[in-house]
Amino acid sequence: MSTIPGYTYATSAVAASPVTLADFEQMKASVLFGDEDVKFLRMSHDVVQDQVEAILDVWYGFVGSQPHLLASFSGKSNGQPLGDYLGAVRKRFGQWILDTARADYGQKWLDYQHEIGLRHHRVKKNKTDGAPSTELVPFRNLFALIFPVTFTLRPFLAKKGHSAEDVEKMYAAWVKSCLLQVTLWSHPYIKPGDF
Ligand code: HEM
Repeated sequence: MSTIPGYTYATSAVAASPVTLADFEQMKASVLFGDEDVKFLRMSHDVVQDQVEAILDVWYGFVGSQPHLLASFSGKSNGQPLGDYLGAVRKRFGQWILDTARADYGQKWLDYQHEIGLRHHRVKKNKTDGAPSTELVPFRNLFALIFPVTFTLRPFLAKKGHSAEDVEKMYAAWVKSCLLQVTLWSHPYIKPGDF
């Protein structure tokens, strides 16, 4: 059982995803995600495991350097960054790095994907940490962040002596996994019936 506050993966606190495992299989096919990608994501687990804090420093540095992104972690009334909120989310973000690398897909994983989407959307944003922040991560920023997140991860994937080919394949698998996940997270933003 995880001791990370608000991390509710595989617990009864998480509702069922409206997306089925069969839908997810089709999504995987759409992004050319296959067994190779599972293999290379899992290879990346050992690579990133002891680099999580350094990776988070880079990602948080990026978000912190962009006022329009930092706004989602700031006070709704005064616009000041909320240190407690940033810190609480950072712990779950670190766990997410390892969960992404674990690539263990099943109903519980799918359900938590939906939960993460709700936590970016006004349905559940701020609720986990009781943060007095803005009510929504704007949809326009969600997909765009896939590039900086994966591009800045790449050097970390190359730090443990793997061949250039393996690094490239780990990187591609991460890009595909992030595309799949952020697509799942988009569900609450999409008009009913259109997902
Ligand atoms: C929460 C990842 C895009 C702002 C989270 C969490 C993760 C995550 C793993 C914690 C989930 C949990 O509670 O277990 C990502 C990834 C993104 C992305 C991989 C894109 C590739 C964005 C963008 C913003 C943002 C563009 C806007 C600045 C937030 C906020 C929370 C959060 C404010 C806390 C939500 C809450 O109140 O629970 N994100 N995120 N995220 N993210 Fe993102």
